[in-house]
Amino acid sequence: MILFKFSILILIIFFVFVSVRFSNNDTKTISLENAKKGELLFNSSGCTKCHSFTGEYRYGPPLNFTFNDNILIFRKGKIITVKLDRKYIVRSITYPESDKLLNYQNKKMTVVNLPPEDIERIADYLIYINTIGKLN
Ligand code: HEC
Repeated sequence: MILFKFSILILIIFFVFVSVRFSNNDTKTISLENAKKGELLFNSSGCTKCHSFTGEYRYGPPLNFTFNDNILIFRKGKIITVKLDRKYIVRSITYPESDKLLNYQNKKMTVVNLPPEDIERIADYLIYINTIGKLN
């Protein structure tokens, strides 16, 4: 009986864990279709003028990053550690002035005039190519 209760408990913990993971925005599966939309938006919004994916220097930081890695940034004059997740990516594009990657604090990124859903598609694209790989 104790063993039975114990297995039920383990099962509950397992389901809570799984549902938390899937409700997390970062781990939601990105469709190839959305990533492709993001690629078109990225290429037509002038982002390539300042960002490469090869590590090549183009005024802004290269965007071949390690997704979910901890990075150092300037926020309100302080150096802090943040996670490079979807929220951070969307925020970087929407409010380029709010967070500044270390060594880029004196550079300015242009604010793009895109609706939030387009910025989400660009985030899909950036996450896709840095986790799943090239679009084909
Ligand atoms: C005029 C050059 C310029 C343009 C155009 C530009 N960026 Fe940036 N971007 C920067 C600079 C400089 C930074 C670093 C400083 C900062 O965060 O403001 C940056 C930072 C970022 C970051 C955060 C990267 C990191 O590793 O922390 C993302 C994501 C990003 N840009 C995406 C975009 C997207 C998407 C577009 C097009 C809609 C775009 N950028 C257009 C210059 C630019």
